[in-house]
Amino acid sequence: MGASEFEESMTGSPLSDRWNALKTECANCRACALCGGRTNLVFGVGNEQAELMFIGEGPGEQEDLQGVPFVGPAGKLLDSMLEMIDLDRSQVYIANIVKCRPPHNRDPKPEEMTACRPWLERQIALVNPKLIVCLGRIAATAMIRADFRITREHGQWFEVNGRRILATFHPSALLRDPARRPEAFMDLREIRKEFRAL
Ligand code: URA
Repeated sequence: MGASEFEESMTGSPLSDRWNALKTECANCRACALCGGRTNLVFGVGNEQAELMFIGEGPGEQEDLQGVPFVGPAGKLLDSMLEMIDLDRSQVYIANIVKCRPPHNRDPKPEEMTACRPWLERQIALVNPKLIVCLGRIAATAMIRADFRITREHGQWFEVNGRRILATFHPSALLRDPARRPEAFMDLREIRKEFRAL
């Protein structure tokens, strides 16, 4: 059953049942080879009815160990970024393009992203956020456009399948290259502006 068929069949069920069904099904996923290396599948965290959703790339070591997105060094920076715009994790929903850790933190392969995509689509359908923020190039190429250029196109809103999506720098990139932080801060201000206008 495809993602949209599944959601259709559950329409009318309470939202909590739909979330529980999705989490249970996803927990057993073996759709790509990444499942073989996982300690924990990293599903998503935050407000399941958030108006603002963040999408990262995939779990790192700490996320794999704890089963929660963005809990390692990049996650600490993400928390600070949220704080800068007067938000915290309880107000947003955070998920990743792939739910299992790629070995040695390599980029997820296209076939892994494709295999994992229905879970993300179903999360987006249930959260139904008004705004989506992609963290980094990988998420932006998956969610906005395959040839998305993060250095040129960050901070702009794009409409994709009826949803407003913006990409900014991945917190890991900001840890590696702090010179990008002022640009990321401008993106955060843009996100705050649109969030407040909802
Ligand atoms: N980087 C990501 O893209 N996602 C995480 O959950 C952690 C680090």
